[in-house]
Amino acid sequence: MEPLSDTRILTADDKGHWIAEAESVIDRGGVVAMATETVYGLAGDARSNEAVAAIYAAKGRPSRNPLIVHVADLGAARRLGAFNTQALALAEEHWPGPLTLVVPLNPDAELAKAVTAGGDSIALRSPRGAIGAFCQKTRRPVAAPSANLSGHVSATTAGHVLADLKGRIPLIIDSGPCAQGVESTIIDARTDQLQVLRPGGVSISGASTAALETDGESPVAPGMMSRHYAPATPLRIDVLPTDVPDGHIYLGFGATSLAGHPTLSASGDLAEAAQNLFDALRSADAQGAPGIAVAPIPHTGIGAAIRNRLARAAKGR
Ligand code: TXA
Ligand code: MG
Repeated sequence: MEPLSDTRILTADDKGHWIAEAESVIDRGGVVAMATETVYGLAGDARSNEAVAAIYAAKGRPSRNPLIVHVADLGAARRLGAFNTQALALAEEHWPGPLTLVVPLNPDAELAKAVTAGGDSIALRSPRGAIGAFCQKTRRPVAAPSANLSGHVSATTAGHVLADLKGRIPLIIDSGPCAQGVESTIIDARTDQLQVLRPGGVSISGASTAALETDGESPVAPGMMSRHYAPATPLRIDVLPTDVPDGHIYLGFGATSLAGHPTLSASGDLAEAAQNLFDALRSADAQGAPGIAVAPIPHTGIGAAIRNRLARAAKGR
């Protein structure tokens, strides 16, 4: 790939002209930032060693941390991984959607080795959003981690991507803010006992959350190490407005808020808080305050995913 001088931003239009532009970069082993309904992803052809190397390089991501492969549908997924009965049922129920399934890698799968970090399992997802449309149109398997610098909070707008990756990638497809705002639920579906590796917008009843409690000591999902999702500013969670030190930024939720400070959702709506979360963390971080304090967020629904990201951001420093 030619050396990059700058990063181009192209607005996604209904006519889909952007798909041909993205395809021409990805065809040459390049990477393009494009949205899913969860967060922006840094997309490359999952069969190309060059593209996968470029993804790791642009993010500064350790090569032992495998990538999610995005596909058009379950048929495409089954050429890459082995789905047991439960995995099939989950894919049928939730795809396209914010659910990633870890299944045994199909030994015949034509993929770059580095996509799975050399491992024998693969994380597969059929998303909505631009990456979903790209997979539908081009029938390519698309490797895409979140489009942020390694260890930073994920990007939910093209501006966030640019802030992290300007000059490191050739093209960003701007389709506006992501609808959901937190990364996909990851379920280990290799055995009959489903394990939640990362909570997200989809809750799976009967799945064990034991893997989350290992707290990064021996993570099944390597990216769940505690230093993830960290803003630079020290962050505390479950703080009441009365306990916010002078000069610190308070991220409120519902009635638990502080005048003159931002809120994740003034009306106490968890879906809205999820949409706003990473932008709020990035904005608060940019202000250079000595600390960020966050209001208590309920554990219910997508609240569990928000709390998970905040807990990691709090531990990150
Ligand atoms: O919403 C999302 O999932 C976004 C969009 C772009 O799809 N992607 C995303 O990718 O969040 P990333 O790379 O930032 O996080 C994926 C997580 C990482 O923690 C990685 O370690 C884990 O998935 N993972 C990937 N392959 C795995 C595998 N075979 N087994 C276990 N965990 C895996
Ligand atoms: Mg990530």
